[in-house]
Amino acid sequence: MSRLRHLHETIAGMDCRTIIEIGAFSGHNACRLAKAAFRRNRSVCYHGFDLFESCRPEDLNPGSTRQPQTRAEVAARLQSFGEEVGRRPLWLRRDFRFELHQGYTEETLPAFRAASGGARADFIFIDGGHQVETIAHDWRWCSEMLSPGGVIFLDDYYDAADPATLAEFGCNQLVETLRQTPEWEVAVQPTADLNKKGRGIRVVKVQRRA
Ligand SMILES: C[S@@+](CC[C@H](N)C(=O)[O-])C[C@H]1O[C@@H](n2cnc3c(N)ncnc32)[C@H](O)[C@@H]1O
Repeated sequence: MSRLRHLHETIAGMDCRTIIEIGAFSGHNACRLAKAAFRRNRSVCYHGFDLFESCRPEDLNPGSTRQPQTRAEVAARLQSFGEEVGRRPLWLRRDFRFELHQGYTEETLPAFRAASGGARADFIFIDGGHQVETIAHDWRWCSEMLSPGGVIFLDDYYDAADPATLAEFGCNQLVETLRQTPEWEVAVQPTADLNKKGRGIRVVKVQRRA
């Protein structure tokens, strides 16, 4: 099972009405997350943050050449997903709403928080820029928007990476800091995908302690 599949299984077991994804990319993961959340809820609202067509080569993650789709393309995908689930027979019908936030999360997360009047999300997936500072920044804003009982998943926890890589990329540093904070319970997930060097990449589940 891939690490994202594991993520979808987790959301399927949750009472999840609001999803935030940092790194919407193509919108495919948004549809998968929403489909899984529909197992327990008829209505799901998704907020996707990305650079979309404004993504420059230097914004791409190390080793990646995959350019995100344009905002319009992602919006069209999510619109058509919402229409498909909205015209099912009544007992299978679902309500999907979405908002896409384009730009660097350094600007879009604080702007969204201020405009939404204290938005909260049950499930947050942080998978945008993989630089240590960007992840720390995304964590700061997202952790403030987590609903009571909600879950944050951090992508890009690297197994056996060299210290120079970990000083620049991935969530390992943040995870070590959170492990020392009594407020947060941290669990590196058992499922790993392998990178080109054969090293594991994992997601990390973070929840507020009861
Ligand atoms: C690895 S992809 C996300 C993959 C997606 N979550 C999925 O599962 O299919 C990372 C995305 O983050 C976006 N990104 C990178 N740096 C960003 C930043 N500082 N602010 C907003 N989005 C950023 C990129 O444009 C890219 O689409």
